[in-house]
Amino acid sequence: MADQFDVIVIGAGPGGYVCAIRAAQLGMKVACVEKRATLGGTCLNVGCIPSKALLQSSENYHELLHGFARHGVSAENVSFDLGKMMGHKDEVVGANTKGVEFLFKKNKVTWLKGAASFKSANTIVVDGKEYGARHIVIATGSESVPLPGVEVDETQIVTSTGAIALESVPKHLVVIGGGYIGLELGSVWRRLGAEVTVVEFLDRLVPTMDGEVATAFQKTLGKLGMKFKLGTKVTGAAKTAKGVTLTLEPAKGGAAETLEADVVLVAIGRRAHTEGLGLDAVGVATDERGRVKTNGHYTTSVPGIYAIGDVIAGPMLAHKAEEEGVALAELLAGQAGHVNYGAIPGVVYTWPEVASVGKTEEELKAEGVAYKVGKFPFTANGRARAMGDTDGFVKLLSDKTTDKLLGAHIIGPDAGTIIAELVLAIEFGASAEDVARTSHAHPSLNEAVKEAALAVDGRALHI
Ligand code: FAD
Ligand code: NAI
Repeated sequence: MADQFDVIVIGAGPGGYVCAIRAAQLGMKVACVEKRATLGGTCLNVGCIPSKALLQSSENYHELLHGFARHGVSAENVSFDLGKMMGHKDEVVGANTKGVEFLFKKNKVTWLKGAASFKSANTIVVDGKEYGARHIVIATGSESVPLPGVEVDETQIVTSTGAIALESVPKHLVVIGGGYIGLELGSVWRRLGAEVTVVEFLDRLVPTMDGEVATAFQKTLGKLGMKFKLGTKVTGAAKTAKGVTLTLEPAKGGAAETLEADVVLVAIGRRAHTEGLGLDAVGVATDERGRVKTNGHYTTSVPGIYAIGDVIAGPMLAHKAEEEGVALAELLAGQAGHVNYGAIPGVVYTWPEVASVGKTEEELKAEGVAYKVGKFPFTANGRARAMGDTDGFVKLLSDKTTDKLLGAHIIGPDAGTIIAELVLAIEFGASAEDVARTSHAHPSLNEAVKEAALAVDGRALHI
C-alpha cells in the first residue's frame, strides 16, 4: 500500500512550496516532491535570489566607482573580488533554501526527495516508491528555451544558470534576447567591466512593457554602456580558440554579419518543464506551447490533478506562482481561493528599476479603451534629487470616464518598491483621484506617484 497524503505537490519552487505550506496550514496531510538537492525551485536556487544578490553587489561596486563622488564621498583603488561576490550570492541562496526546509518542518510538510512521475491520476512514483494522494499538484516550473544552432555548454554559451556563476568577467558578453534575464544579467556584467551587446529579435526591448517606458529603459541602459542590436536574429554560433563567433542577420532578412564574444548568454524566454512526469500516461492535456492546460480553478484535464506556476499559462513570475499556490490550497480546502491577474506587478531589477502593473498604453489602444495619462519625472522629485538618482518617471493610465486606474508604469530609483501602492490601488479598484488625494510622506520617491495621479487630471503641483 502506497503512503497516502491529502495533497502531493510536485516541485518545490515558489508555486509548489507555498501551496504545500498553505495546504498544511489548512489541516491537510501534505508531501512535496523535489528532485533538486535543495528546496526553493528556480527562483531561490538559480533565479530571482542569486540574480538579485549579484545585481546588488555589482550595483554597490558601480555606485562606489561612479555614484558616490557626487555626494563628496571618494575612494581610491576601488576593486572587487568576484570570488567573494559569488560567495555572498551562494550564502544568500543557502539561507533562503534552508529557510524553506525549516518552513516544511514547522508546517509538517514531508519532503519526498527525487523526481516524481505519474503512475495514475492519484499515484506517483518517486525513486521506485509509490505515493498516493487525493489531490496531486504539478508545480514543476520552467526551463530556458534553447536556440537552434547555439548550443549551451554553461561555460562559453550559457543560460542564466551559467551567467550567475561565471568564474571571471568576460571581455565581451553577447546576450541573445532583450528581456528580463538578458537585461538584468547583462547589466550585472556590464557594471563589473564587461562590454555587453544585446541582440534582440524585435525592434524594441521587453516586448510586454509599456512602449514609452521601454524606450526610456533602453536609454538608461545605454548610459551604462550596454549596446543593442535590435531587429536582429542570431543564426549560428561557432566556438573558436578565443571564444564564440556568432552569425547575425537582420530579423527581416538581409546581409549576414559576425560578432565575436567571449561568453554568450541565451535568454530568449523560458518554457514549461514537464519532462519525465509521464503526463501522457495519465492524459493530462498541454497547450500548443507545452504548458499544462488548466481551468480557472487550476484543475487539469484529469480530475484530481492540478497545476500552478510557470508550468501553466500566464506571466512566469515567482509571486504569480505563489498566489496560485495559495489560491489552489484554499480551493482544495473548500475555500474561495482566487488570483487577480490584473494586479500582478512585474519588475526588472536593473538600476534604475522598471516596474509595472495592469495595462500598458499599447494594450488599452488595442482594446479600444478610452484612457487618460498622468506622468511625473523623478527630476522634479526632491528625494530623487537628494539621492542623485533622477532618471525616469511615473506614468499612470486611468479610464477616461470613470478615472479607475488601469495601469501604472515606473522607471526610476526603487521602482520595484514604489509600485506596491499602485498594485494595492488597482486591487482595491481605486481611481487616480484616490491616489492623488492620499497623503504621501515628504520627501519620498512615492510623491512622484501622487504627482502623476494629480497629472492625470492636469493638476500636478510640482512641475
Ligand atoms: P520553479 O521555481 O521552476 O520550481 C519548479 C521545481 O520543480 C524545480 O525545483 C524543479 O527541480 C522541480 N521539478 C521539476 N520536475 C520535477 C519532478 N518531476 N519531480 C520533482 N521535482 C521536479 N521571478 C520573479 O518574480 N522575480 C524575479 O526577480 C525573478 N528573477 C528570475 C531570474 C532568473 C535568472 C530566472 C531564470 C527566473 C527569474 N524569475 C523571477 C522567474 C521565477 O524564478 C519563476 O517564475 C518561478 O521560479 C516559478 O516558480 P514555480 O514554482 O512555478 O517553478
Ligand atoms: P523574456 O521573455 O523576458 O525575453 C526574451 C526576449 O528574447 C524577448 O524580448 C524576445 O523578443 C527575445 N527573443 C526571442 N527569440 C529571440 C531570438 N531568436 N533572437 C533574439 N531575441 C529573441 O525571457 P527571458 O529574459 O529569458 O526570461 C524568462 C522569464 O523569466 C521572463 O519572461 C520572466 O517571466 C522571468 N524573469 C523574471 C525576472 C523578474 O521578475 N525580475 C527576472 C528574470 C526572469
